[in-house]
Amino acid sequence: MKQLIGDDVAHAAELLREGGIVAIPTETVYGLAANAFDEAAVLKVFEVKQRPSFDPLIVHIGRREDVHRVVKELPPGAEALMDHFWPGPLTLVLPKQDIVPDLVTSGLDTVGVRIPAHPLALELLRSLDFPLAAPSANPFGYVSPTTAQHVADQLGDRIPYILDGGPCIVGVESTIVGLDDGRWVLYRPGGIAVERIEEVIGRVAVTMKKVMPVAPGMLESHYAPRKPVHVGDVITLSQQHKSKRIGMISFREDHDVHCCEVLSSSGDLSEAARHLFSALRTLDASDCDVILAERFPDEGLGRAINDRLRRAAAR
Ligand code: TXA
Ligand code: MG
Repeated sequence: MKQLIGDDVAHAAELLREGGIVAIPTETVYGLAANAFDEAAVLKVFEVKQRPSFDPLIVHIGRREDVHRVVKELPPGAEALMDHFWPGPLTLVLPKQDIVPDLVTSGLDTVGVRIPAHPLALELLRSLDFPLAAPSANPFGYVSPTTAQHVADQLGDRIPYILDGGPCIVGVESTIVGLDDGRWVLYRPGGIAVERIEEVIGRVAVTMKKVMPVAPGMLESHYAPRKPVHVGDVITLSQQHKSKRIGMISFREDHDVHCCEVLSSSGDLSEAARHLFSALRTLDASDCDVILAERFPDEGLGRAINDRLRRAAAR
């Protein structure tokens, strides 16, 4: 019997070719992958995650030329974005080819696609002759996994194999952009700062408006620990919750509370993003009563961090 966690790419590939599902590492978070062209395999992903079928999946490809297998046409700007950010944490939502099953896109006529920047994920994708549909490998609504052990803790009894590529170096999901009436819009802030995208294609509308009937990355309550989460000024919040055991998420300073997770003592937003989901899990598993999180600077990866914290706090 094969171990649940390992780094055997050939074994992962074999399971996927047989229509199975496998948890895979990416630079952002671990994904739960299936053959994107095999509806029965994709259905298993929805079942294991208990994910509603109105939530579309991101399709992962191993090579730039493979984009044409899933995308019908590349609108202006798309190639420049691929040149700059692929492989990497940028998902492009583009008109889909008919071969992509409706289950993957929730019936939308667009598909989200990216090339992940992780050596094992790339080796796996390049050894397959189909792309992989993969949402984050967590039960729907809960904090995303950034280590193989996180996946094992929650889905270990429901999947055959977790390909272990070490801790994710970006730590928050990909940035998602798409087109609305010919204009580029941001669907989800993530691992690539919007400022960097705007250097390539100009102004990107930062819409938090629900541009699609269904975009659960945009659902208010998401990425949520079981414990209550409050985001804001931590000094004020600590006062308000002083009768409780406080678990705090702080940017750079240690605070004298029951437990405190400092995301980056050097004040680096990329490092903070990398540690965010682990910190939420650690505090959720601790004996604190409430999680208080500092609001991060609203720039660069700080936007993705604030977005995840805001949704973790939404009930
Ligand atoms: O970094 C990531 O993007 C990770 C890794 C595994 O690649 N994946 C990820 O997948 O975060 P997931 O399923 O947790 O989030 C996918 C989100 C959907 O909830 C939806 O908001 C958006 O991507 N999405 C996918 N297809 C879309 C489409 N056709 N139109 C608009 N949004 C789409
Ligand atoms: Mg997710």
